[in-house]
Parts: sequence; structure tokens; C-alpha cells
Amino acid sequence: MHDLIIIGGGPAGYHGAELAAKEGLSTILFEERTIGGVCLNEGCIPSKALLHSAKLFDYANGGGARYGVTCDAPKLDYAAAVRRKDKIVKKLVLGIEGTLKRSGVTVIKARAQIEGRVEGGFAVRAGGESYRAAKLLLCTGSEPVLPPIDGLERALASGFAMTNREMLALTEPPKGLVIVGGGVIGLEMASLMTSALCQVTVIEMLGKIAGPTDTEIASLLQKEYEKRGVRFILNAKLTSIGQDAVTYERDGKSETVPCDKALLSVGRRAVTAGSGLERIGIELQNGAVPTDAQQKTNVPGVFAAGDINGTSMLAHTAYREAEVAVNVICGRKDTMEYNAIPSVIYTNPEAAGVGETLETARAKGLDAREVKLPMMYSGRYMAENEGGTGVCKLVWAGRRLIGVHMLGNPASEIITVAATLISREISLEQAKKIVFPHPSVAEILREGLFHS
Ligand code: NAI
Repeated sequence: MHDLIIIGGGPAGYHGAELAAKEGLSTILFEERTIGGVCLNEGCIPSKALLHSAKLFDYANGGGARYGVTCDAPKLDYAAAVRRKDKIVKKLVLGIEGTLKRSGVTVIKARAQIEGRVEGGFAVRAGGESYRAAKLLLCTGSEPVLPPIDGLERALASGFAMTNREMLALTEPPKGLVIVGGGVIGLEMASLMTSALCQVTVIEMLGKIAGPTDTEIASLLQKEYEKRGVRFILNAKLTSIGQDAVTYERDGKSETVPCDKALLSVGRRAVTAGSGLERIGIELQNGAVPTDAQQKTNVPGVFAAGDINGTSMLAHTAYREAEVAVNVICGRKDTMEYNAIPSVIYTNPEAAGVGETLETARAKGLDAREVKLPMMYSGRYMAENEGGTGVCKLVWAGRRLIGVHMLGNPASEIITVAATLISREISLEQAKKIVFPHPSVAEILREGLFHS
């Protein structure tokens, strides 16, 4: 009998396994594909590697002229960028595998299925063998939503339609790409492909892009990409996918956009089928495994962390949820807090936010106000972002900072400062005493504090 079985080796699973083993728990981690999960193999990391190549090419291909830098005949060797991306992924996977081994985790590369309850715990079957553990941690992640759209199955089979997995594996960019869904995956891929000189059309069902992102920031981001030639079709519903075109409906009218490839990025859903959850009575809610603030499921002894609970679907949330689960399993008090989880869209410029927007705060009945500054208030931003239209917004409820939202590079790095202020409930007086390095783009937050 082991102490802990973890099913799924993405950020929640591998991080939880490492921590548990370091705590002295005999831990088995099952992963049927590659350690690292979607994040490392077909999501966060590969996309960022390619987006970095794309950003450098943008500067070489005319974007640098604003800074007095020009290049003759620049070229984006997309295949070389993909090889570099693959090398990074491989290195990181090896690194995590090494860490798990050194920590004493038993990693089993096989599909695991819960068999049922046994005396003192649970039995899990994988690769023809049965394993037992006192506790289970479910980390089976999420998969792309594939809506029942006419022609989609055939288009996926032929390779015309893609999810993030196939998209990131392409070795050359298509000439024309339709992206269905203007959320975070859609926008990051629109950014990558526009830089790779592909004609991109984004079809979005709602009246705005970027999901729950602050409305003004979403609109600024849309304008930025429209300037670069991306066509956004909002309030449009996908109706069918052919083999060389995508059809949508808007205002009762049907239109068809011809393209070489179509990316489907209309959201992700928890993976709950195929691991035998029903055999131990795990309850599902909206297709996910709900967890409490200690990451407990409805079955005593069974915990869940990461995308499987459908709460936040971000790798950094998954890490923290796994920490909470392992702490609770080890008998320590810990609680998951969701009020200060940063979210980032890695476009260029980056959009990042944490906590409430003015809209969400007011919808909750809070007496909220917003302090808004152009990013140009930061000298460093001005030096490095010629013509930048970035903004930084601080949302207050009384004297309490409840949200920060920004557009401008490197928002993904700076947002951690805002998350720290919010999650640690640092008062305005205390926050104003923090010394920021000068010149840094992060100083925009200091400016925001002094304007509050
Ligand atoms: P998403 O939920 O961000 O966006 C999906 C978009 O598709 C929404 O705007 C929705 O209105 C639209 N949509 C849905 N059905 C549609 C239809 N039939 N026709 C047209 N539009 C339709 O989902 P996305 O982009 O697929 O990303 C999935 C998850 O992956 C996110 O929840 C996110 O947590 C995670 N992710 C995070 C990243 C980051 O943190 N930078 C990067 C990529 C993914």
C-alpha cells in the first residue's frame, strides 16, 4: 500500500508528486503521454518559444524602424523556430523527469484507471498491474472543447481543422488561417501567425475578444492587431467547417471564409472520462470534478487539482492547488485562494490582469473606483515601446486594492507585484513605501499607487 497515487503528470500532477515525495510519502505518478502535460508539451511553453521568435522577426521585419533599426531581407525560418521550440520542450521534460526521480517519485508511463475502493484506500490499474494507495490525487487536466459543428470531425481528421496541439506542431505557417474563438489561445495564435505573415481571421461568438479581460484593454488589443491586418468578426457563430473554408452566421446572414487551415479554440473542458471516477462515486458538476478550498472531492481521501476541477484552468493555479492538496494530505492547514490569480495573454503587447475589473466589482455590488494611467507614465516603457497605447488600471474598493489590469510589455512579469499587493492585502500606505528599481516598467504600479 502506497501513501499517494497521482493520476496525470501535468503541472498539478508533477508538482504535487515532487512535494509529496519530499514529504516522505511513497508516491506513484501515472502519465499516459509525456510528463509536463498540456502546459509543457502543447500549450504554455511551446507557444511562448514560438512567440519569442515571432517577436524578434517583427522587429527585423519593419518593427525595428521606429527605433532606428532596419534590416535587409529579414526572414522567419519557421521550421528552425519550431526546432528550437521542440528542443526547449524536450529539455524541460527531461528536467522534470530528473527532479521526480531524485525526489523518489515512482513514475509509471501508462494509462491509469481507478478499480475501486480497497481496505484502507483505493486500487488503480495500469499496464496490466494493480497498485494501491491510501489517498488519490486526480490531475487529469483538460482537453479542447469540440462543439458539434457540421463537418468538424472530418476537418479534424484531414488536418484542415486543428486544436492547439496540431497548431503548435506545424512546421510551416499556413497562408490563410481562420481562428474560431477569440479567447486566449485564439489571440496568442493570431499573434504568432500574423507575425509569420499569415492572413488571420478571428471568428468570435461574443461582442468582444479576450474573454473576461477588461473591456477597454480587450478593445485596445483588438485595434493593435487590426492595424497589423488581423480581421475580427465578432458576434458571429460558427455554423460549418468544410475542407478549405469556414462558414459562420452573423445578423442572420451566412458567410464563408476560405482558408488553408482552421484553428478551433473555443474553450477547454475537464477530462473526467476514462479514469474510472464513477467506480468510487466521484461526483461531477458541469463536467468537472468540484473541489473545496482544501482540494477535497466529495469522496474522502480523494483530492483533485488543476484543470480537472474546471475552476481556473491555468498552470499556475494548478501548482498552488497541488500544494494545498499535498499540505492537507500531510495533515497541515492550507487553503486555496482564487481572488488574486493573475491571468496573462501573451500577445505583443501582453495583456495581464489580476482580481476584479471595475465592471466585475460593480456587478458584485462593490462601491469600486478605477485609477487609470497610460503606460507612458513609465519612462522605461516609453523608451522601449515607441507608439505604445498601453494602459494600467488599479481597481479600488474603498482603500482596498482589488484589481490591477494592464496592457503593455512586460505586463506578464509586472502583474506578480500587483498580485502580491492584493493577495497579501498590503495597505496603500505600506505599498507606497516599496522601492521599485528605476527605470522599470513596474514603476507604473508605483505611479498608480501615488495617483490613488
Ligand atoms: P477561452 O475560453 O479563452 O476562449 C474561447 C472563446 O471562444 C470565447 O471567447 C468564446 O466566446 C468563443 N466561442 C465559443 N464557442 C464559439 C463558437 N461556436 N464560435 C465562435 N466563437 C466561440 O478558451 P481558449 O482560448 O480555447 O483557451 C482554453 C483555456 O486554455 C483557457 O481557459 C485558458 O485558461 C487556457 N490558456 C491559457 C493561456 C494563458 O494563460 N496565457 C494560453 C492558452 C490557454
